Amino acid sequence: MEKDKVVLTGIKPTGTLHVGNFLAAMKPIIEMSKIADRSFAFIADLHALNSVHDASKLRQSVTEIAAAYIALSLDTKKAVFFRQSDVSQVTELSALLMNVTPKGLMNRAHSYKDSTQKNIAAGLDFDVGINMGLYTYPVLMAADILLYNTDVVPVGKDQKQHVEFARDIAGAFNALYGDTFKLPEPFIKEETGILPGLDGRKMSKSYDNVIPIFDSEAELKKKIMRIQTDSKLPEEPKNPDENTIFLLYKHFAMEKQMREMREKFEKGGLGYGDAKKLLFKAINDYLSPFRDKYNELIKNPDEIFDILNEGAKRARPIAEKTIARVRKVMGL
Ligand code: TRP
Repeated sequence: MEKDKVVLTGIKPTGTLHVGNFLAAMKPIIEMSKIADRSFAFIADLHALNSVHDASKLRQSVTEIAAAYIALSLDTKKAVFFRQSDVSQVTELSALLMNVTPKGLMNRAHSYKDSTQKNIAAGLDFDVGINMGLYTYPVLMAADILLYNTDVVPVGKDQKQHVEFARDIAGAFNALYGDTFKLPEPFIKEETGILPGLDGRKMSKSYDNVIPIFDSEAELKKKIMRIQTDSKLPEEPKNPDENTIFLLYKHFAMEKQMREMREKFEKGGLGYGDAKKLLFKAINDYLSPFRDKYNELIKNPDEIFDILNEGAKRARPIAEKTIARVRKVMGL
């Protein structure tokens, strides 16, 4: 990670933040923002609108993500930390980019395709329940990225295609109007690319198998003890790399502890019950200081929104510059 690269990531406020969000997007941007001169972390509330139609739920979710970033010690003086909808230039850029975005590109988007396939499987017309917010989601996301001259976008594997689309859209724009946008790149931490959830499938809100970042200690323990495993006996050797407990453990344990668990699984002698206890302790030790801070912060939404407003104030002039440049080359 070079100092002069611009890094940016967003999180969509829909439901509870989980350790998958933490490892794929939050932790990398928090770390990278220490090195990079310019970094942006924002809450993608406009993106949530295609599925969240309850104002108070949306606001609650925005508040929680903001509190989470602050609790997890994002340096909000250094990184530009803001709410997407506070910088309205993003909607203008999105509208402008629509005109260079091939419709076929949107047809290929995984999230849109998943939704149409579900409809087809249910015997419905393929576009039932799909709004234009969902369909054009990648254009708005490209606007997020291009508005701030981003080089690197830390995301989970599921967002890789969206970042590639942003790159394609920037390329299409540049081909028509000359070199206007930098071409962004996704940054995907290989080992966190796909993090298993409690049932062994990818950790995802839609599978209801997540470990929330700020669950209480008791709740966290309950969830971890629920992790699904096969029926191997404690003495049997087990492959750690196909084992949900280990795949989670390695992100939270110390190097030495991680090696110990790997060896014990490989040799045999470590049962799943004991391994879960170790996992609980590792995650709990890691998260509990952040959890306490979070629980304090969440009591003061006004303070949280003050911080977001400060961030938006810093983001707007950068956004305005981009818009001015884009308008000019387009002849507006
Ligand atoms: N689509 C991302 C998600 O669902 C959120 C997001 C919106 C984003 N705009 C972005 C991520 C720009 C990275 C860059 O998690």
